[in-house]
Amino acid sequence: MTTGWRISSVTSTARTCVLMPAHMSDSALINRATLIIDQVSADSPADYVLRGVLGADKSIPAHEKRDISRAVFSYYRWLHWLDKAASTQSRLASALDLQSKFDQAPSGFKIETLAARAVPEWLKSELDLTDGYLRHLQTDPALWIRVQKEFAAALPRSLGNCTPSASFLVPEARRSTTLRYSGNIDLFKTPEFQQGVFEIQDLSSQLVGYAADPKPGETWWDTCAGEGGKTLHLSELMENKGLIWASDRNTGRIATLRKRAGRAQAFNYRAVTWNGGPFLPTKTKFDGILVDAPCSGVGTWQRNPHARWTTTPDDVKELADIQLQLLNHAAPALKPGGRLIYAVCTLTRSETTKVADAFTAEHPELSSDPVLGQGPRLHLLPHELDANGMFIAAWKKRG
Ligand SMILES: C[S@@+](CC[C@H](N)C(=O)[O-])C[C@H]1O[C@@H](n2cnc3c(N)ncnc32)[C@H](O)[C@@H]1O
Repeated sequence: MTTGWRISSVTSTARTCVLMPAHMSDSALINRATLIIDQVSADSPADYVLRGVLGADKSIPAHEKRDISRAVFSYYRWLHWLDKAASTQSRLASALDLQSKFDQAPSGFKIETLAARAVPEWLKSELDLTDGYLRHLQTDPALWIRVQKEFAAALPRSLGNCTPSASFLVPEARRSTTLRYSGNIDLFKTPEFQQGVFEIQDLSSQLVGYAADPKPGETWWDTCAGEGGKTLHLSELMENKGLIWASDRNTGRIATLRKRAGRAQAFNYRAVTWNGGPFLPTKTKFDGILVDAPCSGVGTWQRNPHARWTTTPDDVKELADIQLQLLNHAAPALKPGGRLIYAVCTLTRSETTKVADAFTAEHPELSSDPVLGQGPRLHLLPHELDANGMFIAAWKKRG
């Protein structure tokens, strides 16, 4: 439920009474969020503009930045309820009003209306639009952190507002390190974050690390390491022993990975570029390979609602081809007995079961392997975990 909002009068351009955060004037919020929305386009997504504008402005306090982000995301969550002819300010006021009404009484919104307006028309051919899924999409996302095991007892005391994950999928020994944070401080500015005590990482992403379950001393390849979210988790699970090859085609992301690894004191990795092609970055054979592939990100649409209106069926098709190619190129680098983990933060059939089916059919040398003690294919549903949607599949190389 949304908290901290109050009924307020509105600016001259916004027509209706609107719910506002308690600590920011209505006109300031509407005006700042409007400035951001007016810069958003298919080429400049909302999350990108928010990062650019708010990241650059040191004068706005963290809690106000959070309110502005929430207002912008509410706008895209309720976009197809808004009057196209109205001004951005007026539309934003209506979106905040709808958000507040939904937070107070979600059952007041018919599921058929949510199915028709909260997601693009094409989505229903790619996943089941259940009641739970659609209602969860229209709420604010949870914030998850991953704390290094040695600080698991101390961090909740120093940060406050931390609750361990209740998901049975988180291994028993790790329950105290996967925390939900519900406080208001800017976590990036805390000394604990700066010292690498914890990372902000969605629960579903943490479950990918637990599904990989690398052991100290093993050799792993994180093929699409990006900025290193999963690499750092693998490193911690390996107790900094053994080696992780962390590759990505984007050198900027690799540079960020190196900085983050320094902060987290993760040393057992080697960062390299790999463009996803048949020429692999090393001849090493691996105990485990993680393909955390680029995807449509449909599983993140609660967190980033603007993406609902920019992602297309063509993107899904194109990404599914890339995902299969990445798996095909990476698989020969497995040792006999080695495990291959495929993860995507999407739930479209094309990028999940269809990719897994096609890959399985092409690789008789691999057998399906359980994921987190479940079957070999796990759909992490956002409304069940209060986290991103994620698909994880695993195989083991025979012999
Ligand atoms: C889902 S993100 C990875 C997130 C990262 N593993 C983490 O946990 O922070 C996918 C990554 O794949 C990379 N990528 C996209 N296409 C690629 C390709 N053809 N070959 C290799 N990496 C690719 C992107 O640069 C992006 O960093």
